Amino acid sequence: MSSVLFVCLGNICRSPTAEGVFRSTLRKAGLAETIRVDSAGTGAWHTGEPPDIRAQDAASRRGYDLSAIRSRQVRGEDFFEFDYVLAMDWSNLQELRSLKPDDSSSVVCNLLGYAQTAPTDQVTDTYYGSGDGFETVLDLVEQASNGLLTELRRSKELD
Ligand code: 4NP
Repeated sequence: MSSVLFVCLGNICRSPTAEGVFRSTLRKAGLAETIRVDSAGTGAWHTGEPPDIRAQDAASRRGYDLSAIRSRQVRGEDFFEFDYVLAMDWSNLQELRSLKPDDSSSVVCNLLGYAQTAPTDQVTDTYYGSGDGFETVLDLVEQASNGLLTELRRSKELD
């Protein structure tokens, strides 16, 4: 089984959105049982909390249900349990690279590297911003999800 972990700072806005969107992408592709998906934060402030209500509402308007997700912090085992550990921005990527054990073979990179046509190279923090930032997060994550699925199909020769 292939596996993907999405990582942001708090695991209540961007990475749960990526988890929900990518689960939906996989369901539509008939691969929901083939690829394990989770999300986490480099910080622990929101451990155990559901996604920010603004992220849940924006996702819900596009048909994604984030309500069952609970925030957790990245842990060392993640670098052995997940094939891909994908950061939402450069700052979290830097943190993940410093946490990655030398003997881990996970691919640790920026999620938007899989979004061929995205107008930016990172999903910036929306926590302190206005509501429309959550729409931008969804736009970027939807693009990256399609590119990521293509990458997983290529690397694992799925279906
Ligand atoms: P996220 O957003 O990393 O997209 O979940 C944030 C959520 C909480 C905080 C920062 C960013 N915070 O500082 O509590």
